[in-house]
Amino acid sequence: MYYPDELIEEVRMKNDIVDVISGYVKIQKKGSSYFGLCPFHSEKSPSFSVSPQKQMYYCFGCGAGGNVFTFIMEYENYTFQEAIKFLAQKAGVSLPEAEYTEEVRKKEGKRAKLLEINKEAAKYFYYQLRGSNGRAGYQYLKGRELSDETINKFGLGFANMTSNDLVKYLKSKGYDDKLLQEAGLATFDEKYGMHDKFWNRVMFPIQDINHRVIGFGGRVMGDGKPKYLNSPETMIFDKSRNLYGLNLARTSRKNNMILCEGYMDVITMHQAGFSQAVASLGTAFTEGQATLLKRYTQEVILSYDSDGAGVTAALRAIGILKEAGLTGKVLNLEPYKDPDEFIKNKGQEAFQERLDQAENTFFFELRMLQRDYNLKDPEEKTRFHREIAKKLCGFSEEVERENYIQAVADKYQIGFENLRKLVLSYAEQTGFAKPVERPKSGIQKKAAPDENRKKTQRMLLTWLTDEPALYQKIKKYISPEDFTEDLYRKVAEKLFDGLDRGEMNPASIISMFTDEEEQREVASVFNTKLMALSTKQEREKAFHDIVFAVKKNSYEYFSGQLGSDVKALNQVIAGKKALEELSKTHISLD
Ligand code: UTP
Ligand code: MN
Repeated sequence: MYYPDELIEEVRMKNDIVDVISGYVKIQKKGSSYFGLCPFHSEKSPSFSVSPQKQMYYCFGCGAGGNVFTFIMEYENYTFQEAIKFLAQKAGVSLPEAEYTEEVRKKEGKRAKLLEINKEAAKYFYYQLRGSNGRAGYQYLKGRELSDETINKFGLGFANMTSNDLVKYLKSKGYDDKLLQEAGLATFDEKYGMHDKFWNRVMFPIQDINHRVIGFGGRVMGDGKPKYLNSPETMIFDKSRNLYGLNLARTSRKNNMILCEGYMDVITMHQAGFSQAVASLGTAFTEGQATLLKRYTQEVILSYDSDGAGVTAALRAIGILKEAGLTGKVLNLEPYKDPDEFIKNKGQEAFQERLDQAENTFFFELRMLQRDYNLKDPEEKTRFHREIAKKLCGFSEEVERENYIQAVADKYQIGFENLRKLVLSYAEQTGFAKPVERPKSGIQKKAAPDENRKKTQRMLLTWLTDEPALYQKIKKYISPEDFTEDLYRKVAEKLFDGLDRGEMNPASIISMFTDEEEQREVASVFNTKLMALSTKQEREKAFHDIVFAVKKNSYEYFSGQLGSDVKALNQVIAGKKALEELSKTHISLD
């Protein structure tokens, strides 16, 4: 952070969140908060809330949330520094010039240095492409039908023929050999010394959601191998947690995201107006990427190659999407290999048509499954139907399951009742698809244990910010250590610290985290949906349940740490005592 905390806080306080957001989103007062249509995902009824008390916003639909800085960062695609500058100017606060002295540079740490050197390299490649050295690269991209606008938008560049010019350039800027190697931009060789990793390739800078360059992909201009050379993973480049093009796709305001495999596919789709396209980074799609996508969309359309490897990859991706709670569809671009080739040959409208026809993932899975069976043979056909029935058990919600049974029966011409019976008999055998118990008390039972534990902790923090007076009643039972989630514990420390001094200022806690991802999570900590309970008795029970559950989770957590952590024993002893006391204590909400 370049600016002192007090200054950041001053800028924040002088920018009332309701005023600022009203400039972008139409919001209306409802109770103590304001509501409107979320600018970060597409929706028809308002789930985007702005709280003047908390000075925070939160969307119950997509989970976007934060303070006034986060909003500006997300809406304007600004970095934290840029958002501060912007809001300082708006409120007439003058900021000191950020100084990049040697000392500051040292303090910024490795991450910042890696980001900086990647940015320098990206700029260097960018200018090479636009100069005489880069003519071949520019011609190549033109040959692939990219407009100048597209080339600029994606910051494409060129690593020229000389194999150590980037090294020289970066060294002249004061970066040392070690950093160059750590950034994956150069390698050391006994014979040639330090030399560039990328040369004679067109360069695709890979950006994170805040438009920071975190790595590169470089393509040969002909048929050489490897076709694409990529930066290695570094402290700032985690391939399993980033997606190519997401920095642009996330503000596309479309109601889905298209997930494909290639850099060129993303670029071509964006150029054709499909600005919701992203690609995984030459590795298999991961859970981390699904979570990332879930922040921006509910539906992901998969566009993988139609060959064997592509189908396997798609089937795996479908599983991951499901786990993450996203709906998926599968795009069929046959006879073309990928979106780039399809759009080049068929154009934008035909592509839109294929998008509209994208296949439900369940039917895609069945179609792929069907290839293993010869349906002319009654024996095999029966086995195929059994497999279908097994798969149908996967739908735990009855209405959904019934709808699928109906649809599958129609599609594969199986008697509805027969199929239904088959499904039920499997369901009984496997214990799948039992009616889900409806949770009665405050704590939802449906989610995975880990998510459940986190949610309870979030609910408590939210409740305390809604009714800060309750802090005094629970502080003898609950301490920041009870929040077993790292980030939550940090938040609790800050919140409790403030409450001990009689202050409650969640929006300022958000500013203490500079990473947008963390800010967002902190916002969710303060905005977890509490159940709508009408009577005081119900509310008191729910609150007690939450406090008890948080303490119990922490007690169990520390019991598991006994032996490896010296602090754990104290926590366990205190936890046991608190739990006993809590189970006999009534916490009044008055
Ligand atoms: P493809 O081989 O399908 O290439 O690889 P493509 O995207 O169609 O590329 P063009 O159209 O020929 O330029 C898909 C993705 O897999 C990764 C890259 O991310 C690429 O975009 N890949 C592929 C590599 O990392 N290295 C390779 O050698 C090949
Ligand atoms: Mn291609």
